[in-house]
Amino acid sequence: MNAHPSLAEMLKPREKELLRFLTCGSVDDGKSTLIGRLLYDSKLIFEDQLAALAKDSRRHGTTGEDIDLALLVDGLEAEREQGITIDVAYRFFSTARRSFIVADTPGHEQYTRNMATGASTADLAVLMIDARKGVLVQTKRHATICSLLGIRHVVVAVNKIDLVGYDRAVFDRIVSDFATFSAGLGFSSVTPIPMSARYGDNVSSRSGNIAWYQGPSLIEHLETVDIASDRLRKPFRFPVQWVNRPNLDFRGFAGTVASGSIRPGDAVTVASSGKSSVVTRIVTQDGDLDEAVAGDAVTLTLADEIDAARGDVLSLPSERPDVVDQFAAHVIWMAEEALLPGRSYMMRIGTKFVPAAVTSIKHKIDVNTQESLAARTLQLNEIGVVNLSTGVPVALDAYRDNRETGAFILIDRTTNQTAAAGMIDFALRRATNVHRHSHTIDKAARAAMKHQKAAVVWFTGLSGSGKSTIANLVEAQLARAGHHTMLLDGDNMRHGLNRDLGFSDADRVENIRRVGEVAKLFVESGLIVLCSFISPFAAERSLVRSLVENGEFIEIFVDTPIEDCIRRDPKGLYAKAMAGQIRNFTGIDSPYEKPEQAELVLRTPGATAESLAEIVVKTLRERGFLEHRDDWGL
Ligand code: ADX
Repeated sequence: MNAHPSLAEMLKPREKELLRFLTCGSVDDGKSTLIGRLLYDSKLIFEDQLAALAKDSRRHGTTGEDIDLALLVDGLEAEREQGITIDVAYRFFSTARRSFIVADTPGHEQYTRNMATGASTADLAVLMIDARKGVLVQTKRHATICSLLGIRHVVVAVNKIDLVGYDRAVFDRIVSDFATFSAGLGFSSVTPIPMSARYGDNVSSRSGNIAWYQGPSLIEHLETVDIASDRLRKPFRFPVQWVNRPNLDFRGFAGTVASGSIRPGDAVTVASSGKSSVVTRIVTQDGDLDEAVAGDAVTLTLADEIDAARGDVLSLPSERPDVVDQFAAHVIWMAEEALLPGRSYMMRIGTKFVPAAVTSIKHKIDVNTQESLAARTLQLNEIGVVNLSTGVPVALDAYRDNRETGAFILIDRTTNQTAAAGMIDFALRRATNVHRHSHTIDKAARAAMKHQKAAVVWFTGLSGSGKSTIANLVEAQLARAGHHTMLLDGDNMRHGLNRDLGFSDADRVENIRRVGEVAKLFVESGLIVLCSFISPFAAERSLVRSLVENGEFIEIFVDTPIEDCIRRDPKGLYAKAMAGQIRNFTGIDSPYEKPEQAELVLRTPGATAESLAEIVVKTLRERGFLEHRDDWGL
């Protein structure tokens, strides 16, 4: 028994091949029974390993006292940090020929996101069908999602065949129903197996009860289905995890080969710069390798000192990824909060993090029927076809060509939760030829001429809270002291540039995005830009903050209780909103997210606008935005 390999060894792709698969179906279909049987029949997890795992699970896991086998699984780190595998259980087992990780995902309709999580790394899906019920809407949904997620191999497990008297006609009808439906889904293998998970028929060994069936048992198929060629045939991709430079004599790029293979002597190109060199060594802890293949964690040294940073992708010069800032993709929405086009999310692709926004939603997909439906937003578990744009160009491939470099996630910038999983369809525009001009007279020079440092002073708060009144007073004071300012508010923006926008969530996102870009331009001109907008969402305020340099954005929360705003009601709008004549009114039937880390909070009750404006000017002076000028008395 001691000769038995450790779990870590069993997981090593080269020692014994690892097959990741997921099971789809509801509990009623016998999914849990099947998984239980696979684990029971293989009996290969030992007590001491379980104990070690249990310890780890309590420390990092999401399953409380239960063992979290997800902790075993490479590549799930990021998902774990995001805490979205909670509803997906990963189970590990092994036979003489292969190791397996099975993702067990809930089958209920609303769990598309869990299924997507389990499926994103899977090589194969076992679709459970109850022989008595046949192909259901749910089966179609599961098959559609599997196809979207690039799963190439499908087992159609026609379960509970014992309950239909092991009837071949029932099996044949289900197989032909499924074939008709799945013809367009692009699976490279579809393997139907009649089985009874309960009695073990055709699970780990072939059943004597089903003499008419000549094919493999489930385990035989899982042990032999060809997955290696799927992975190795791909072009070489190496996302750089970090630059390893322990001393002046050694410089290497550390990471995991995402696809394909590489040998010393091969030429490689850095995607972002297009610079090429030749691989001199493939370094690992256990010595140098002659070849590194998909899944190997290695450090590559190159013949020339070319620059590559974390997030760059190395490829062969002849087979480069696209480097673009616009692309089309399928996304599965995973957040409770709906997708808002224009909102900036953090995108993680490979080892790179970049800001990204959905620029348009082309349509969403009905996963039950595969129909395209018109959509202006995506809700939890919905799948959409969208265009995205990123803040800087990124190296990517179409997902159908490469699941490693064609998949990404979007992260909500305020909650840090995973908002979506995405699969790239195609690049829209090459960004490599678009260069930003660098100007001789820059922001600092323009600001110095004005005896100040440029800034965005952002007033946020409810309608009628006093933002604009205070901003006006601040501007007047600054002007008196000879400073150069610009004031942006809902009135001047919404009558011109933003005339086309209303007050839906999506329109407010776009309103603030445009205001942010305009403010940024004014900052470039060296001005102190005062902005007065309700700006009810933390995400957009943080977006504007990220548009300018660190320290240039001063967020001021004008904190007025809504009762005071209603009492003052300078424009009579609260009265109208409460009478139902205006919809989506902030504070009444549209949310306001209070800033949590504003540079300044102005509590208005009991204070005069003048005294609050004074505080703002003082803050600007203390933060070094206003050059001291004796002659002007400020
Ligand atoms: S924001 O939410 O997109 O930041 P913005 O500051 O530009 O709003 O505009 C808010 C102003 O528009 C309010 O002060 C008010 O005068 C007017 N307004 C009209 N309808 C609404 C509404 N439904 N909600 C909030 N403000 C509204």
